[in-house]
Amino acid sequence: MNTATPPTPRSVTATAPGKINVQLSVGAHRPDGYHALTTVFLAVALHDTVTATLAATGRTTVTVIGTDAQRVPTDATNLAARAAQLLREHHGTDAGVALHITKRIPVAGGMAGGSADAAATLLACNALWNTRATPAQLHALATELGSDVPFALLGQAALGRGRGEILTDLPVTGPLHWVLAVAHGELATPAAYAEHDRLHTLRPADAHPSPQPPADPALLAALKTGDATALGAALVNDLQPAALSLHPALAATLHTGRTAGALGSIVSGSGPTCAFLAADAHTAKSVARALATSKAVRRVRTVSGPAPGAHITTR
Ligand code: C5P
Repeated sequence: MNTATPPTPRSVTATAPGKINVQLSVGAHRPDGYHALTTVFLAVALHDTVTATLAATGRTTVTVIGTDAQRVPTDATNLAARAAQLLREHHGTDAGVALHITKRIPVAGGMAGGSADAAATLLACNALWNTRATPAQLHALATELGSDVPFALLGQAALGRGRGEILTDLPVTGPLHWVLAVAHGELATPAAYAEHDRLHTLRPADAHPSPQPPADPALLAALKTGDATALGAALVNDLQPAALSLHPALAATLHTGRTAGALGSIVSGSGPTCAFLAADAHTAKSVARALATSKAVRRVRTVSGPAPGAHITTR
């Protein structure tokens, strides 16, 4: 029997999914600058991959290929680079890494693509450097990196509370068929929340939002049974008015998808990607065809959900 420890890998590849918030209810603005959220995350089968390769001590380099790669920063501000640095600091290593990211999730599109890259990087570097962070430690690091990073680790479907990082698994029956319409331009998450706050101060009745909004029982039941009609009717995103205010063309996109037969339409997270739920794969294709003719839409994808969270694919 061979009892030798396997050689440390020189390179590890991990993948992580994008997400749609099928419920995004925004509560009170907290003293720390975040908003209390109740959100229902659904991971979809649109993945970024990150290959982490050993590099000179202390160095992090980032290269990016794939969809809209030119829009992704390759310096220390890249969330994947920050993930590598955070893992290094927490585990007292100065190991180097070259991160190679393949983008499929829209960049700054409201689908947590940067968070997916950070989650995949945590897993890949943890294996590459043999830092042995536990799942609980990885969750804590993910929370430090951003509100959506813990869900990118978890995947499938989950209820998010707090600022989105306190997660509870949710039962979900799939596949659910989605069409994604990627809009021209980007929408930075802080800008969407700032516009949300501005719109709410204009409406005094909304001046005191509930500290933590409730989850919608009808939506949770629809997710559990895979009832696409009920889920389509229950989709809700409190950031949608802000996204529409900043990107007025999204209103026509949402209308186009609904008219083409979608059961429900929603701006994904802080936008500007729009997500449409279809009854089946065939209807999803015809909704996608209709959206592809719209001048306001840059790219259309059909995807299914749920999808697994971040995991290592090659080492
Ligand atoms: O956590 P993350 O870095 O993704 O958040 C980016 C920005 O989005 C925050 O700085 C904040 O402006 C806004 N945000 C918020 N409330 C949340 C999540 C994000 O206000 N629950």
